[in-house]
Amino acid sequence: MSDLKITNLHKRYGSVEILKDVNLEIKSGEFIVFVGPSGCGKSTLLRCISGLETISSGTLEIDGRVVNEVAPSKRGIAMVFQSYALYPHMNVFDNMAYSLKLQHASKEEIKSKVEAAAAKLQLSDYLDRLPKQLSGGQRQRVAIGRAIVRDPKVFLFDEPLSNLDAALRVATRLEIARLKESLPNTTMIYVTHDQVEAMTLADRIVVLNGGRVEQVGTPMELYDNPQSLFVAGFIGSPKMNFFTGQFADKYKAATVGVRSEHLEIQPNGSGDWQGKVIYSENLGSDSYIYVDIGTAEPIVVRQNGKATYHSGDALSFSPIGEQFHRFNAEGRPLAN
Ligand SMILES: Nc1ncnc2c1ncn2[C@@H]1O[C@H](COP(=O)(O)OP(=O)(O)OP(=O)(O)O)[C@@H](O)[C@H]1O
Ligand SMILES: [Mg+2]
Repeated sequence: MSDLKITNLHKRYGSVEILKDVNLEIKSGEFIVFVGPSGCGKSTLLRCISGLETISSGTLEIDGRVVNEVAPSKRGIAMVFQSYALYPHMNVFDNMAYSLKLQHASKEEIKSKVEAAAAKLQLSDYLDRLPKQLSGGQRQRVAIGRAIVRDPKVFLFDEPLSNLDAALRVATRLEIARLKESLPNTTMIYVTHDQVEAMTLADRIVVLNGGRVEQVGTPMELYDNPQSLFVAGFIGSPKMNFFTGQFADKYKAATVGVRSEHLEIQPNGSGDWQGKVIYSENLGSDSYIYVDIGTAEPIVVRQNGKATYHSGDALSFSPIGEQFHRFNAEGRPLAN
């Protein structure tokens, strides 16, 4: 059991307030992902939870106990960073065993814990290797293993995959998904910039903006029902298209948001919006067509398969069914 409760948390550096009245309840065993623009306070919040940073005001509870004043090493929390920081002169086994040795664990206990963690992370064949003899993904898994052997109640990850190339990211993401399955009672909090990681790993996503919590919800809740223009524009890739001013008149809203996958090309200028194709991107499985309709930013329309429209072509499109989002002038959602 490791419920986490954050109440009215503020964090200031001098006179600058970085985290502003954060309230969050995380249930034991949940996988929570923090997302938000660079500088919004994700790492700071994680460091406050770990105890590496003090909280200016508010409370942090783990399992019903206020831990504001509890030392990081006594919180039952393990943290994995982007830079895995392994000891270069120690092999994989010794890197993973290090914290247990510091705790004077017995040889048998160390061996069984390290071997169990290595098996979970597909590292059993690499225990004798030095970090320099491993790929980036394997090194990051050793860093995770080093945290697992401590049997933490709460696992914190700060962008653990962002140093890896695309293929390794996918492979290591799958390892983390498996890890989550194999540690059902361990609470995990994971910071990422990667939309796919957030959508695929999270039980719930916390969207932070300027030190405040914008919205908390399951990936699909945030995708389907963003409660602000900010969340609408932040969750989803490519970014949601926004139609404002005259382009939103027909919808009786200050802004209409439509995801590129929810725009349907209409023949002969019969759609709600029309413009000229600027360029198209072929990704193989699908294509993104960038269209200038007179808005500040081009509108992105997704097409299945190869793009059949090219620069200069006229294109007209409408939302598919009810798959659009209306917002008022304050950026709050209006019911369709
Ligand atoms: N020790 C510090 N002293 C003063 N300001 C700090 C300190 N640490 C962080 N900040 C500021 O706090 C804000 C939040 O930083 P934080 O590292 O939490 O952002 P982040 O959301 O993790 O960003 P990124 O996505 O770039 O990692 C930033 O404006 C940063 O400059
Ligand atoms: Mg950060």
